[in-house]
Amino acid sequence: MTTLIKGGTVVSATGADPAEVLIDGEQIEAVLRPGSDIAAAAEQGAEVVDATGRLVVPGGVDVHTHMELPFGGTFASDTFETGTRAAAWGGTTTIVDFAVQTYGENVRECLDAWMAKAEGNCAIDYGFHMIIGGVDNDALKEMDLLVNEGITSFKLFMAYPGVMLSDDGQILRAMQQAAGNGGLIMMHAENGLAIDVLAEQAFERGEISPVNHGYVRRKELESEATHRAVQLAKVGAAPLYIVHLSASEALEQVAIARDGGMNVFAETCPQYLHFSLEEHLDRPGFEGAGYVCSTPLRSRAEGHQDDLWRGLRTNDLAVVSTDHCPFCMKEQKELGLNDFRAIPNGIGGVEHRMDMIYQGVVTGEIGLARWVELCATTPARMMGLYPRKGIIAPGSDADVVIYDPDKQWTISVDNHHMNMDYSAYEGVGVTGHVDTVFSRGRKVIDGGRYLGRAGDGRYLPRGLSQYLM
Ligand code: URP
Ligand code: ZN
Ligand code: ZN
Repeated sequence: MTTLIKGGTVVSATGADPAEVLIDGEQIEAVLRPGSDIAAAAEQGAEVVDATGRLVVPGGVDVHTHMELPFGGTFASDTFETGTRAAAWGGTTTIVDFAVQTYGENVRECLDAWMAKAEGNCAIDYGFHMIIGGVDNDALKEMDLLVNEGITSFKLFMAYPGVMLSDDGQILRAMQQAAGNGGLIMMHAENGLAIDVLAEQAFERGEISPVNHGYVRRKELESEATHRAVQLAKVGAAPLYIVHLSASEALEQVAIARDGGMNVFAETCPQYLHFSLEEHLDRPGFEGAGYVCSTPLRSRAEGHQDDLWRGLRTNDLAVVSTDHCPFCMKEQKELGLNDFRAIPNGIGGVEHRMDMIYQGVVTGEIGLARWVELCATTPARMMGLYPRKGIIAPGSDADVVIYDPDKQWTISVDNHHMNMDYSAYEGVGVTGHVDTVFSRGRKVIDGGRYLGRAGDGRYLPRGLSQYLM
């Protein structure tokens, strides 16, 4: 069974050209020059998909999602089934989610539990990082085994004392282990001990509303932790990937490390580029709870958003992921009605990443090729999935999105597909639209219809980060 996508402009991390894409079964067979004899021959017997006036881009690769994450006495509201379906609607065809181990738990048992949650339920392909919330000798040994089995990255936390936080000694030991086994350390870089002091003091002063989450998670405490993580990585001789970076000052630390020649990488997320503390987290009443995430949204007056767009251009920020961690307002975010500290941390956005970063193309912040590089090619390379994922090229998986660059529409809880009772993006006007999505050659989204199936997504054992080779 072959499919020929013709008439479109194929976009890669290096440019955009008119081309025809021939899909054979689950793979890309060829990328052909329009009007060539081979393209004409390929059309015979193929299903022809007309992409005239559209962009043809590699399926998005979102390397930071949290389906079903336990947090603050509740669970992220998307299951692997609902979350991967929503991802497909938004043009993302691969996710890398986080299996979670905490103090005293066995890494292997935790991983098995997360595999079981995902297996048979995903609409698109998926892999796992491992959160090591309890760095002990057993966990360190297990890291070596996991790397050989395709779990090649490990998230550590400098935040959330008593739940996930690793102290500096534990971080150093995990980094040394990764230096030895080739794994990539991903760091949640916020000084959680200091944040908890400020949070308690704010609460005692009666400052209980959601915006206080942003006030106490100060930019200095993100940049201090980022600096410390970089220094520990230098001592441990390990590569480092800073997750969900939101503060200009943290970005500066990454830039200094990179300019000094270190293998330090960072991602940001659409919410940090488009939202702010003043306009979103500080909304009246309890509305700001819908924007509580960590690291927090930053002040627009201070210019963080502009700095993050600049970081995307300079490559100090190499990846855009979502940190998709959805909670409903009812019964979930509402847990913190009288205490901002009890609001579950996270924003759902797995469906909107491709569109929200495309807005940067529309406004001239980045170019088309950079859009694809940030949302598909680099995340695939960073997490050892390239060239199977992240590029339209012969032999790659046929994960392809046909994107209308001109369609205008408005995001709403009424038209999104994530399992949430609100949308953080409510009322946001978007130029550009995901029309058709192929996942390993199968159409899963076609002109407003979902054709995918839970269970069609396959588990992806990953190689080592291809930025370390
Ligand atoms: O607010 C967030 N980011 N929630 C998910 C957990 C994490 O730290 O990534
Ligand atoms: Zn985190
Ligand atoms: Zn996260």
